[in-house]
Amino acid sequence: MNKKTIKDIAVAGKKVFVRVDYNVPMDKSGNITDDTRIRATLPTLNYLLDQGAAVILASHLGRPKGAPVPEFSLAPVGKKLSDLIGKPVLFSPDCIGSDAKAMAAELQPGQLLLLENLRFHKEEEKNGESFSAELASLAEVAVNDAFGVSHRAHASVEGITRFLPAVAGFLMEKEINFVGGAVANPSHPFVAIIGGAKVSDKIGVIENLLQKVDTLIIGGGMANTFIAAQGFATGKSLVEADKLDLARSLIGQAKEKGVNLLLPSDVVIADRFAADAKYKTVSIDAISEEWMALDIGPASQKTFAQALSSAKMVVWNGPMGVFEMDAFAKGTEAVAHAVAASGAVSIVGGGDSIAALEKTGLASQISHISTGGGASLEYLEGKVLPGIAALADR
Ligand code: 3PG
Repeated sequence: MNKKTIKDIAVAGKKVFVRVDYNVPMDKSGNITDDTRIRATLPTLNYLLDQGAAVILASHLGRPKGAPVPEFSLAPVGKKLSDLIGKPVLFSPDCIGSDAKAMAAELQPGQLLLLENLRFHKEEEKNGESFSAELASLAEVAVNDAFGVSHRAHASVEGITRFLPAVAGFLMEKEINFVGGAVANPSHPFVAIIGGAKVSDKIGVIENLLQKVDTLIIGGGMANTFIAAQGFATGKSLVEADKLDLARSLIGQAKEKGVNLLLPSDVVIADRFAADAKYKTVSIDAISEEWMALDIGPASQKTFAQALSSAKMVVWNGPMGVFEMDAFAKGTEAVAHAVAASGAVSIVGGGDSIAALEKTGLASQISHISTGGGASLEYLEGKVLPGIAALADR
């Protein structure tokens, strides 16, 4: 990686502003239902604290549209972080202003201060100059460990780097090495598995990966559009009618590039979209008129697993079917097993693929589970992420 990290600079005795992505899911009572993103920053925080830095943490939570909204307060996140790190976490009720300034000024080496939600100020998303300067005034060094928001040119992500030296945290470094590395310098055979409901969400990713991979596997709802594009009847399956030409063009591009494009050969079809629907497995040329495809079938699972067995690098984003319903989760689970068993360097992103790995107990067998949703997709599209570009080069 050509970006400086916290290991490349002196942090002892310094006030360090750490941008984290603590945009975590919460239930109605404010309980955090998945703390992965908080736990993922602990190596960076522990290192900085051990080095004798005073750590000022900043994050967004949700999309409060530039004004304080109590349900988007980061206070519960501070409590969770305190439990996880085993230290008190001070909390500033605003991310700028006199309280934040005073608390940051008094913060001692080895102490942690969490600032309230950055997006309670509209200048955060507008990347306002004076807001960036105010955030910067709290510290002497900026660290970005918020890979999940590195595709946003916001004040705490990009603007602040115009006022402070800025380096990557360990989580950011890992994301750059794995996700960035897969795009820039993949090992071969390189297999990508792309799923999810709609092809329109992943056009850029598919187009970019077609330039890099040896095999591209397409499953999930988006595969229906490819099935329809090949001239098969798809019944009541979700098909993006305006993307049929695009699907045909992607099939053509794969052929031209010599990429082995694997689409489902069989699907599980259901008589309605429900967990207790009637269902059966059919070949893709036998989808009944009133039925809909909700998962890939066993023959497709076998073909996909075979391709994965010889891979040296695997990128997986998106489920193979309606994973939330047990009857239509088997394709996604089979892919999770095949990725884990492949022995390849494996990089997984996207909530459903990660949930499938966790449900099957296979998460620990994956080389890297990305904390970025939109950010990892944009990275896989080959885009420059402003939060990464702004970090100091080595
Ligand atoms: C995410 O959850 O993907 C990141 O935290 C970014 O959130 P955003 O899409 O609201 O910018």
